[in-house]
Amino acid sequence: MQEVLSQLPQITDPDVLVGISTGDDAAVYRLSDDLALIQTIDFFTPVVDDPFQYGEIAVANSLSDVYAMGGKPLFALNVIGFHLKELSHDILVMIMRGGASKAAEAGIQIIGGHTVDDREPKYGLTVTGVIRPEDIKRNSTARPGDVLFLTKPLGTGIISTAIKRGVATDAAIDRAVQVMSRLNRDAAGPMMKVGASACTDVTGFGLLGHLGEMTRGSGVGARIHARAVPVIQAARDLVEADPKIAPGGSRNNLRHVGAFVNFDPGIPESERLLLADAQTSGGLLISCPADRADELERLLQEAGTLVAARIGVIEAEDDTGRIDVVP
Ligand code: CO
Ligand code: CO
Repeated sequence: MQEVLSQLPQITDPDVLVGISTGDDAAVYRLSDDLALIQTIDFFTPVVDDPFQYGEIAVANSLSDVYAMGGKPLFALNVIGFHLKELSHDILVMIMRGGASKAAEAGIQIIGGHTVDDREPKYGLTVTGVIRPEDIKRNSTARPGDVLFLTKPLGTGIISTAIKRGVATDAAIDRAVQVMSRLNRDAAGPMMKVGASACTDVTGFGLLGHLGEMTRGSGVGARIHARAVPVIQAARDLVEADPKIAPGGSRNNLRHVGAFVNFDPGIPESERLLLADAQTSGGLLISCPADRADELERLLQEAGTLVAARIGVIEAEDDTGRIDVVP
């Protein structure tokens, strides 16, 4: 994507506070010295069979980029691809109801949108929010010595593929839906309160891909303790039984991160695939100053995030953004 974007005109507007240069989660545009607009768009094809749950997940995912940057969402618009001649009207209503319900949980409303005729359904939102310019959390400002936290377990990509192949158990589906539909708002509050150095959400590039954007953007290295990384047990069982269950996107991620990730030889392929697994609506990856790490852990637990896992540390400055994964 960066290669494509590099062929477009440079962004020169001085009020653009966050643009495309560091692959950050959302765009931020200054309205005045103490107020900026935060804007994001996200949509995808169904990841579960239940249309209401699909709507909930798509909206939780779309809101996530605003939370990852420390913003407060104000309202949203639907982005829909749907083929009414083939799929029933009721299905579309259920998707949008699921979306509206998750938006209500986040304290916002969906006040418009756009639909195109599309044989493969797609759903998501554009989300508009606000942020004070000094509060913006970027993915490119991690500092040596920071402790890395993750707030949701990995493995939703693997379970989504298992659902498509009809081999996911009901328990696995329920757990994946719970993880994907959880709002990252509850993690964002503590992340802001402790003054995190950097933050991003874990989505399509997987944990290692998004961490790689963070380390390269920040000019630092990182060390990840594989055993400390939370994983949905059903996803681990699936990929240990058959590594081919990992989606193509996760395999591509693993290939791609090979340029800057150094795996300890003791880490098996199944574990590598989980660390690179393309997530839908994953948790926040937070780079927290070491002297605030205990407080962040306590605040995340109080907020009831699915996990509040210390998965590693940011290491010394490093131009290549090198990541060491140890057992
Ligand atoms: Co993001
Ligand atoms: Co996004």
